This record gives sequence, structure tokens and C-alpha cells, in this order.
Amino acid sequence: MTVSPLPVAERISRLGTETAFAVSAEAAVWQSEGHTVYPFHLGDMDLPTPENIVAASFKALADGKNGYCPNAGIMPLREALAADVSASHGLALGPRNVAIQPGGKPVIGKFILALMNPGDEVLYPNPGYPIYESQIEFHGGTALPYGYVEGPENFELDFGALEAQVSSRTRILIFNNLQNPTGAESSPAELERVAEFALRHDLAVLCDEAYWDVRYSGQSRSLASLPGMAARSVILYTFSKKFAMTGWRLGAAVGPAEIIDVIAKLNVNDESCSNHFIQYGALEGLTGDQSGPREIVRLLKERRDACVRLLNEIPGVSCFTPAATFYLFPNVTGLMARKGLASYDALRRAALEQTGVSFCTRLHFGRALPGEKEAYVRFAYSGISLPLIEEGLGRLKAWAEA
Ligand SMILES: Cc1ncc(COP(=O)(O)O)c(C=O)c1O
Repeated sequence: MTVSPLPVAERISRLGTETAFAVSAEAAVWQSEGHTVYPFHLGDMDLPTPENIVAASFKALADGKNGYCPNAGIMPLREALAADVSASHGLALGPRNVAIQPGGKPVIGKFILALMNPGDEVLYPNPGYPIYESQIEFHGGTALPYGYVEGPENFELDFGALEAQVSSRTRILIFNNLQNPTGAESSPAELERVAEFALRHDLAVLCDEAYWDVRYSGQSRSLASLPGMAARSVILYTFSKKFAMTGWRLGAAVGPAEIIDVIAKLNVNDESCSNHFIQYGALEGLTGDQSGPREIVRLLKERRDACVRLLNEIPGVSCFTPAATFYLFPNVTGLMARKGLASYDALRRAALEQTGVSFCTRLHFGRALPGEKEAYVRFAYSGISLPLIEEGLGRLKAWAEA
């Protein structure tokens, strides 16, 4: 019997994806053919979730927390997260400011659904997490990219791009401080400038703070903490990174109560509620013994230090030392010239096939912007052990030097 293909809805043509998953698939094929792969492409983690979180989740399940729970999350977790974010951000939040989600990612689409009308313009970072552009366009908005430029110590926001793109139709700014993929972090002065910009243009802001607690020195700062910003900002919070819980799928939207109510109503429509018993694990994560997350950050810092040192030893590569996130975004313009490689894909394939080192390139985080001359790739060190980092980057160096 021949089956006629069902016509897919028009909106699906506007839905993007994470092309980084294709890099994982390619690396897996290469590995299955008997080659060693050094996985720097993964934004995932190879570290275990702290034991006290696992134990609290098991206990909750044994205690019968296997049914539905309130759609915005269990009250003790909403209260604990409101207290945690209040303390870290200098805000006065309560449980009505928190809607628990199945991961940090759903906050992006729900924020856009709650605040963007079709035809509205949305400023978003590029290079950046690809789901922003996907969700903006899927829901009928116009995506306006802004980028980052190399500063003396780290990447800095390209403020000129923000000012050049904004118009009277712009409604939303998506802002990812502690940024994936660049590791960029705004200085207090840059944050003030962004806040002034958002207030001047009356923008709603999504503060994607997925990497808030993945930091090695200094203190994270939020745009939402600046005067006038809390009322127009929703914070994307996730349990994924700090607690090594990427596969558990738990996060939260934190923001003004009336917007949180809308997001909770979207929860009812989408998934009813987030997984019930693991919310007790997350509660233990927030309120219990903190040695687990401290150890996760200590291990990640060791990896960061090794990666930065070894990448900077490779001819034609230069790399900043971000104080947060688990990403590095080295400039590889010189390496490509040295090896006679004309495209990102040629670089990525050559590195994989000749050294086993697998990474994503700038193009996995958005289309190149007009006038972009330098070439960058992303190294994630959250899913690769220290010995493999040393071995893989040693091979990459030998290849670069050959
Ligand atoms: C910038 C950014 N935002 C949000 C997320 C989503 O995190 P989660 O795994 O909690 O959905 C990620 C995940 O990598 C990310 O890099």
C-alpha cells in the first residue's frame, strides 16, 4: 500500500534546531569505526549528580510522590528557589515569582509565547544558543541578531549592533550573560549600558542565566538586579549545569508574578507539571549539603585551566580564560590559514579525521554576520576528562605544527 505523505504545517518550515547534535552523531560514527574521539563538542556533562540529590529523589519516589503535582511546581521548591535567587540577585522574590519547568530550555519558548506577538522584533545573541532564533521565527517574530567582539580580556557585547538593529517594532531582548558559546560575561559598566538600552526602548528581557553558578572566580551579576529591570525581566534558571542534572530535565522561569502565571498556564497546556519526585531532589540540591556542586565546579576549573593553557600553545590559536561557563571560543583564524583550510567544515572534519578532536564551530551557533572576518570554534570541557583533554589537545597541537 502506498501512503501519501501528510502535509506538514507551514510553521514547521520556520522551526530551527541544534545542529550541534549532528556533530555528536558524526563523532559517534567515527568512533564506531574504531577511532578515538576526544569529545569537545558536547554541551553535556560526564560528571555524576551529587549523591544527596539522587537520594532525596529516590526517597520522594518511595514516599509516593509519583502523581501529578501543581503545574508551577511543588511549593517548597518554589519557595526555596525564590529565596536562592533573591539572595544571589538582591531581589525580594516569593513563590509566585517561580514556575518550575522541565529544564531551562522550555523557558525560552514559553517566554516568547507569553510576550511576543507575531511581527514583533526580538534581539538575540549570535553566536548564541540556537533555540532563540528557532523559537522567535517559529512563533512569527523577526529575529534581530547582535554579536560579540574580542576585548582585551574576554568577548564583549557589540553594542553598535544592538543600537543599529533596534527599532520601534522591537519588543524583546534576549540576553545570555555568562554566554554560550563565547564565555562572555558583562562587566558592571556593560550591564548598566544594556539596562539603560532596555529601559530606553521599553523592552521585555529574557535573562538566560543557565551558567550562573558554573563559575571559578568572582561573582555572577544579573541584568535583572539593576534598577527598573526586575519588573521587565524573566530569568531562565536551570538545575542542569551546577548540579550535573542535564538529563533530569528541571529548570524554572523566575520573574514578575503576572508573567509567571501565564507561563504556568502554558505548563498546564504543555506538560501539566514537571516531573514530581525529582523536584524533591532539586530542593535538596538548593537547601542541603553543597559539597557536591562545589566538587563539580572544582573539576570543571581544572579542565578549564588545562584547556586554555593547551589551546594557547597551538600555533594559530588564541583563547581567553572565561571565569564562568564550561565553554571556550578560541580564535582559529591563524590555524585555518596555516593548514590551508578554507571553511569551518573543512577544519572540523580535518581535525576529527586526523586527530580525533571533535568540536563545534561558530556556524553551529548562528549564521555568520555581515563583515565577520575572524574564525572561531567552540570547545566544551564539561563532557571530557582531564587526561583525555591533555591527550586530545596534544594531538591537535602536533597536527597544527606538522
Ligand atoms: C545558554 C543556554 N540556555 C539554556 C540552556 C538549556 O538548558 P537545559 O539543559 O536546562 O534545558 C542551555 C543548555 O545548554 C544553554 O546553553
